[in-house]
Amino acid sequence: MAMSPPGNAILYNALLRPGAKTARPSFIFNMSPGKTIEEIAQSARRELGAASDEAVLEAWRIAHLGRKASLTIFLRSLAELAPEERRKAGADANRLKAELEEAFAEKRSQLQAARIERTVETGRIDVTLPGRPVRLGRLHPITQTLREILAAFESQGFSVVEGPEVELDYYNFEALRIPKEHPARELMDTFYIDRADESDGRLLLRTHTSPNQVRFMEKHQPPIRIVVPGKTYRNEATDPTHEWMITQVEVLAVDEGITLAHLKGTLFEFAKRIFGRERKIRFRCDYFPFVEPGVDMAIDCFLCGGGGCRTCKNEGWIEILGAGMVHPEILTNMGYDTNIYTGFAAGLGVERIAMLRHGVDDIRHFYANDLRFLRQF
Ligand code: PHE
Repeated sequence: MAMSPPGNAILYNALLRPGAKTARPSFIFNMSPGKTIEEIAQSARRELGAASDEAVLEAWRIAHLGRKASLTIFLRSLAELAPEERRKAGADANRLKAELEEAFAEKRSQLQAARIERTVETGRIDVTLPGRPVRLGRLHPITQTLREILAAFESQGFSVVEGPEVELDYYNFEALRIPKEHPARELMDTFYIDRADESDGRLLLRTHTSPNQVRFMEKHQPPIRIVVPGKTYRNEATDPTHEWMITQVEVLAVDEGITLAHLKGTLFEFAKRIFGRERKIRFRCDYFPFVEPGVDMAIDCFLCGGGGCRTCKNEGWIEILGAGMVHPEILTNMGYDTNIYTGFAAGLGVERIAMLRHGVDDIRHFYANDLRFLRQF
């Protein structure tokens, strides 16, 4: 007995008892069930109390909760007992197991805390302590999508330029053929900025990136191929598909002999890069005062392949942008000769594209600053 490891003493005794050749587990148990469990419990508790460092504690865990511990063997042998015996013995043993596990966890945190305390006290660094992981940052999902969109146009010869978020009424509306009282203004509820001197018109937060068509053409001659990313603002009630601030990308190409075919080819290539090469596109007529003709472009639903699902609202097609041929009146106002130059323009919403690509069902997630959402991208 003195030779047996302390944790397994009970079992060894039982097994070594002369005459105990058959039905060992039930024999052990029948011998003295309460005592057996109780003895296991006592030595385990006593030794745990005495464990003074983490290495001893680990040895204790292996001895009392490990695969070869008496308690584990005992639990495994329960199946061989008669049902009434099994119920009581099983309950006792499981209770003890839970107790020991809990006591172990507590002891472990005590010993850890004590070690940290000692380290702090002596002012030394314990290089064995687990390090604090440095969380890597990442790009916001809208930034990621925006960069991919810009790259899809840059690879087709477009340059990225930017313009002001606080804009004059003239660029946001007038120069784009949206005069005061024009119904299109009502579609773009505008945040206006009050100021004392409004002699050059009202200031506002741009409602789209289209004012940059005019800003750029004023200062440059064709050939023009630009994309203009940026934040745009509309005074809207928010809901799953509306935010008061969204990111747009404006596309503008002006050159000799630009036709609707160039518009289609360029935007089709963009759509394939973002939504997959197998995409199909559909153009339909739409109205924007600054283009003629105006179109909306849709892609075939990449989820259902056109059969109809929730994402495409059972239509098989998803509208992703507005576009058209730059209105000749605007080209003329810029001093371009419309007998030579034509152009196309397009505007798209980055949040909408990111939602489609990632299956995000509420646009408001993007700006709620919830890291659980943002870390997914
Ligand atoms: N600016 C338009 C909008 O925000 C989109 C657009 C841009 C349409 C360029 C046609 C051409 O709705």
